[in-house]
Amino acid sequence: MDASYPHLRLRRTRSSGWSRALHRETRLAPSDLVWPLFVTGGKGVEEPIASLPGVSRWSVEGIAERAREAVALGIPCIALFPNTPGDRRSDNGEEAFNPDNLMCRAIKSVRDACGSDIGILTDVALDPYTSHGQDGLLDPQGYVANDDTVAVLVDQALNQAAAGADIVAPSDMMDGRVRAIRMALEMAGHHNVQIMSYAAKYASAFYGPFRDAVGSGGLLKGDKKSYQMDPANAEEALREVALDIAEGADSVMVKPGLAYLDVIWRVKERFGVPVFAYQVSGEYALIEAGAAAGVGDRDALMMEKLIAFKRAGCTGILTYHAAVAARLLNG
Ligand code: PBG
Repeated sequence: MDASYPHLRLRRTRSSGWSRALHRETRLAPSDLVWPLFVTGGKGVEEPIASLPGVSRWSVEGIAERAREAVALGIPCIALFPNTPGDRRSDNGEEAFNPDNLMCRAIKSVRDACGSDIGILTDVALDPYTSHGQDGLLDPQGYVANDDTVAVLVDQALNQAAAGADIVAPSDMMDGRVRAIRMALEMAGHHNVQIMSYAAKYASAFYGPFRDAVGSGGLLKGDKKSYQMDPANAEEALREVALDIAEGADSVMVKPGLAYLDVIWRVKERFGVPVFAYQVSGEYALIEAGAAAGVGDRDALMMEKLIAFKRAGCTGILTYHAAVAARLLNG
């Protein structure tokens, strides 16, 4: 028998809600989400970020409050980013390894509030701490110097681990930094501190609101194309991922998210390692702007994009929509 219409009707399993639920191939749960949060100084401070509607910077005790909220919603992990005060930014970003910087204070207050009920992921890169907004140290020609930067990133990662970070996430794209950080963590006894490498991070136009949020946007001269990847390249992303795995990364990230689903898929197929997508600030802002402009329902636009990451093979997703999405998923 020819197994086609009218014998085979793919619409049959779609014809009712229970059947669609039964045949659903991928699922999204609050436990798939990592919630990025922006830390600012002071006490009792909430600063809404104009270019990221619905997202604020919080002072340290507000961050602990958000972490409690995440635990209650079933979100397993938060990611922290500091908005360093201007007078603490410098050419070499020394504030990154001050044990009492905003990042370390936020880590400790989250740990006090939530114990081991939540994972704390910290970003390793110098851009929130430098007066020039680049992720590393500049040589006299203004080029981001790879090996000198790696040495400083090691100090930054050790500082975060000592404060209690569970996952250090180098977002700087220097060559060799995963191996250097892994070795230093081992030597310091931080055997269980994970590394999630931003393995395939593209020089993207979608990071604008994030740079407003950490206050580096106005400072940045030039671009980051000498270390972040060309959006045209996928083979190179696979080489980056292969290297980071060999150097000791526990999980890898592709960033931004939606425009790079093919890369996520290829990483998952080729390496079978935990792969995370970072749905970045510009992606979030576009959904919010689209919904505000009447393009579609915000929640529907948001959920369709989030499930796409799971379908593409993601283990988890960093998204500013984490709490809103978790609330919807929890009903
Ligand atoms: C920088 C860093 C960036 C993001 C995370 N870490 C921006 C950049 O590379 O300039 C972007 C995240 C987002 O846009 O949401 N180390």
